[in-house]
Amino acid sequence: MSNELPSRTSIWAAAARAVGAGRNPDYLAAKLIGAAERALLGEHQLARALEFGDNLQHLEVQSAMQTLIVRTKFVDEGLERAIAGGVTQVVILGAGWDTRAHRFADLLRGARVFEVDQAATQNWKRRRVGETIGADPANLTYLLIDLRHQTLADVLSAGGYDPDQKTFFIWEGVTMYLPEAAVRDTLLWIAQQAQGSSVVFDFAHRNLIDSIAAMAKGWEPPTEAARVGMDRLRQIKAWGEPWIFGIPDGAADAFVSELGLAHRETLGMASTEAARRYLSWDRDEPFPAAIRQFYSIAEATVL
Ligand SMILES: C[S@@+](CC[C@H](N)C(=O)[O-])C[C@H]1O[C@@H](n2cnc3c(N)ncnc32)[C@H](O)[C@@H]1O
Repeated sequence: MSNELPSRTSIWAAAARAVGAGRNPDYLAAKLIGAAERALLGEHQLARALEFGDNLQHLEVQSAMQTLIVRTKFVDEGLERAIAGGVTQVVILGAGWDTRAHRFADLLRGARVFEVDQAATQNWKRRRVGETIGADPANLTYLLIDLRHQTLADVLSAGGYDPDQKTFFIWEGVTMYLPEAAVRDTLLWIAQQAQGSSVVFDFAHRNLIDSIAAMAKGWEPPTEAARVGMDRLRQIKAWGEPWIFGIPDGAADAFVSELGLAHRETLGMASTEAARRYLSWDRDEPFPAAIRQFYSIAEATVL
């Protein structure tokens, strides 16, 4: 196993699920994020929240926790629907610290699961799973990829993926880190997989990517919430994982349709609809989330 450091944003995501413990369905995240993983987050508010729990109302902590509750539940529901619809393969692309192979071990008993990620992150995660959760289910296969230089098609076909089986692709928290060509090529290939397959993926809106560029030229976020959001993006850039890809506002349907997929749904991560569905928001007024309105999650199916 290599000694390289894992993706810090993958630890950030698992830490946000762990902070949301009790409300986030990923009850295993808290086991995976120990002292060494917290240390990799440095001075980040999430590391502090996990260690001391004295800053749970901090905007960064609240927003990260809420975002990951919405994201986890949206994907979990898609997975359950896919299995009920006869899917027999699950591909988790850019898996990070995804725990679904373990959390859904019973549901996935009749399916094959492929976790695909870069080496440093996958190696670290596998070691940590062994230490804290235990043996992997027999139906789980780990595969290595760098989507900037390799295609999902090549990696999966060398790893035992069967293109004739209906497959559910989970692509959570990854597209924003990739060149547009890698996002398009991957979705284009998914669109050619067995009919009835589907993909869930989240994405930044293009105007957020534009704001990041503007900030580098001196633009200042107009509100406290926007400043916290932009601080997060600055932090992940400093971790070497800048957000570079986005889809124009309102264009997700056209984006996936052009690539041959049928758009099922797009949900704004901080929308009132998302809050009603996943965050128990039952007031009449809109959900007041100011900092994640440039970020959505979508599901599309293979025709
Ligand atoms: C924010 S993490 C999300 C991890 C996990 N899917 C989750 O939601 O918790 C981003 C993930 O994308 C992966 N990733 C980033 N660039 C990649 C690339 N070029 N090829 C493959 N995976 C990549 C990272 O290794 C990391 O696991």
